[in-house]
Amino acid sequence: MSTYHKVLTRKEFPHKANMERNGGYRVAIAGTGAYVPPKRLTNRDLEKMVDTTDEWITKRTGIKERRIVEDGVASSDLASKAAMRALKDAKVSPKDVQLIITSTITPDSLFPSTSCYVQKHIGAKNAGAFDVLAACAGFIYALSIGENYVRAGMVDNVLVIGAETLSKVTDYTDRSTCILFGDGAGAVLLRRAKGKHCSEVLSTHLGADGKHTDVLTLPAGGSKIPSTTKSIKERLHYIKFRGREVFKLAITNLTKIMRKTIDSSDYTVDDFSLFILHQSNFRIIEATMERLHIPPEKTFFNIDKYGNTSSASIPIALDEVKKSGRLKPGDLVLLAAFGGGLTWSSSIIRW
Ligand code: COA
Repeated sequence: MSTYHKVLTRKEFPHKANMERNGGYRVAIAGTGAYVPPKRLTNRDLEKMVDTTDEWITKRTGIKERRIVEDGVASSDLASKAAMRALKDAKVSPKDVQLIITSTITPDSLFPSTSCYVQKHIGAKNAGAFDVLAACAGFIYALSIGENYVRAGMVDNVLVIGAETLSKVTDYTDRSTCILFGDGAGAVLLRRAKGKHCSEVLSTHLGADGKHTDVLTLPAGGSKIPSTTKSIKERLHYIKFRGREVFKLAITNLTKIMRKTIDSSDYTVDDFSLFILHQSNFRIIEATMERLHIPPEKTFFNIDKYGNTSSASIPIALDEVKKSGRLKPGDLVLLAAFGGGLTWSSSIIRW
């Protein structure tokens, strides 16, 4: 499945105060927020746990350390903290939130949804709440749903969250997977845009290819392989991937979706000030940028600090970029992510 629709050109924006030509309201990113737990798991710590080295991890992934939660902390705890920061940034009260959408592959429980826990924690008693699962591409999937609720005029504001506690599903006896993942959460508050100058979601694009369901997966705990003593003994309740294969598929598909997203707009690569890619491996990001002939300084990295935080990586990056003051109003940003499913997603944002 793929969704591509034309986005407005730079010239068209000033004349479209409230409504886009394809129908619907403009969608502002009114606030951003992020939260990572304080506990650090460094490469040196991992050297003591599995047969690896700081040098190997740094060279192959770009990761130096990742944050992990203490026992008893769930994804909704991180999500709620990120959400409250986004609400504060947007100056919106929790009781005015109308919808909460959380993207996660590490929900507090299969049900209720993590969004329901968030709703309780932050006191957003007037909000509907549900989760989205599209692995590492999930935040932009959630953003797309939120975007279209606001665009259609069904709600005025939506809290979109990416939150993960991947340390709970990481096998710390497997050196090929345990070096990659970290915990964290990020959130944005989408609101119907008012006035000309605001950060705005211009478009979102989604894709998937179910023929690769087995290359990156958490096999047990669902209806296909329910959790049993056997499944736990076989360590099927932990993330499994075929690293080399995923590596190549990630570069191919990220390149494809980014090219297609730019081609479907009236912009060229040079019109974009920043490309924020899912923080999976710095070599995946570098190779993708190279294939698109984009200078490396036009991308963003924080993988050294947090590792791969799946759904949380894009909204954490957005929050860090915002706080850094790196972008000026009107700058164009392309978001792109890739994950298990396989799934991929992208979005054009005007800062
Ligand atoms: N420390 C030291 N050696 C390690 C190691 C570690 N942590 N993990 C694997 N190795 C070894 C392997 O056993 C292999 O040894 P061999 O040649 O003797 O068999 C060697 O290093 C090379 O392994 P390989 O898997 O080919 O390395 P790589 O360059 O592909 O890097 C990943 C491995 C996992 C970092 C990389 O493939 C990757 O990032 N893949 C994508 C992972 C993913 O699914 N991310 C989520 C997507 S959003």
